[in-house]
Amino acid sequence: MKRIGVLTSGGDAPGMNAAIRAIVRTAIYNKVEVFGIRRGYQGLLEQDIEPLNIYSVADIIQKGGTILRSSRSEYFKTEAGQKKAAKVLKDFGIEGLIVIGGDGSFKGGQKLSKQDVKTICVPGTIDNDIGCTDYAIGFDTALNTAIDAIGKIRDTTSSHNRVNVVEVMGRDCGDIALFSGLAGGAESIIVPERDYDLDAICDKLLRGKDRGKLHSIIVLAEGAGDFNEMCKGIEERTGVVTRGTTLGYIQRGGSPTSFDRILASRMGNRAVNLLLQGADSRVTCIRGNQYLDMDIDEALKIKKEFDMDAFEIADILSI
Ligand code: F6P
Repeated sequence: MKRIGVLTSGGDAPGMNAAIRAIVRTAIYNKVEVFGIRRGYQGLLEQDIEPLNIYSVADIIQKGGTILRSSRSEYFKTEAGQKKAAKVLKDFGIEGLIVIGGDGSFKGGQKLSKQDVKTICVPGTIDNDIGCTDYAIGFDTALNTAIDAIGKIRDTTSSHNRVNVVEVMGRDCGDIALFSGLAGGAESIIVPERDYDLDAICDKLLRGKDRGKLHSIIVLAEGAGDFNEMCKGIEERTGVVTRGTTLGYIQRGGSPTSFDRILASRMGNRAVNLLLQGADSRVTCIRGNQYLDMDIDEALKIKKEFDMDAFEIADILSI
């Protein structure tokens, strides 16, 4: 293999740059050329492609966002779009492609594989909603951002004897909520994977208040319920002043943690090695502390498991 391409797709995630750096440097080390495809699959269709060298990825391991930028492409979802994308890659002499993104991006990679493009996917999404891997690049950084914010919110919530509902990202997956709630000592955690009972949550808040608790933090995953209704519902039921904080896009930015940089470096390196070995249609993953890879079709079939154990522990510890 003489030339490979790399793109980032879907929602960006801290650590994507560290993965791009690992891909470029591993390829060059092995005397393979690397082309960067800007703006994901849309940029590929528009031939927004440039050669990358070792200097192109200097000083980016610590940077959030993605130097290649990202997008979501509707046209690429069509067969005509996928055929066109495969042709663009052929025209540029790109024999293998590495896609960094979430499961939507993996589905694109799966389709390109069927168009005879050797494709390797690397999980990058703050939501951590990819079933085949314990961790996706960006999740740990987002989690730390959320924990930092919860700590600050707790200070002011305590000073004013209030309740604060902190809404974190996670449309279909409650991992950021679950683990920031556990690590941030939240009174209740509300996730899309589990039903919740607002009356029971409020009873718990009132029991805490009676014992002299100065503040209560509820962590809500964005996909688990209506934020404004929740704040209103808690205030009505408890009579305690309830404020809300939506963390939003600050969770998608920022310098990646060491965990994300290492994960990205190892997965990026592995993705190139897979292409050099002639592999196609694979996803890099980390499972039970082991780095490995698996077939894209198989990877996409694995349902993300909710960590019920962590959820129950968080509940016990917030009694
Ligand atoms: O990156 C994942 C995610 O942050 C989700 O939690 C969120 O719902 C979504 O992306 C929003 O992304 P955008 O506004 O870029 O479509």
